[in-house]
Amino acid sequence: MATLDELWEGDLREVTVGAEVVMLAHLPGGELRAYQGECPHSRFPLATGDLDGDVLTCAGHGWEFDLRTGQGVNPDNCRLQPFPIRVVGEQISVSGVRP
Ligand code: FES
Repeated sequence: MATLDELWEGDLREVTVGAEVVMLAHLPGGELRAYQGECPHSRFPLATGDLDGDVLTCAGHGWEFDLRTGQGVNPDNCRLQPFPIRVVGEQISVSGVRP
């Protein structure tokens, strides 16, 4: 799927797992997160957005999300669907998606 070498701190990356498009994020401080890959507003690919600290700004129309929690920042009435993420050695894998 992806390796830590391909997803440096501060990076976003889109991967496909089964039928799901998933965004991987490597947050400042080293934590990894996986969320739905498309913006809940109008389905722009979230991995094309801008990550500033923990806050992702969607490239589509500027909606903002806190990637530590998935919670919408602006607007604050939405939330990204998270996926469990696992790292074994250098390999990052995402589970909990439909095959
Ligand atoms: S598609 Fe993300 S803000 Fe519109």
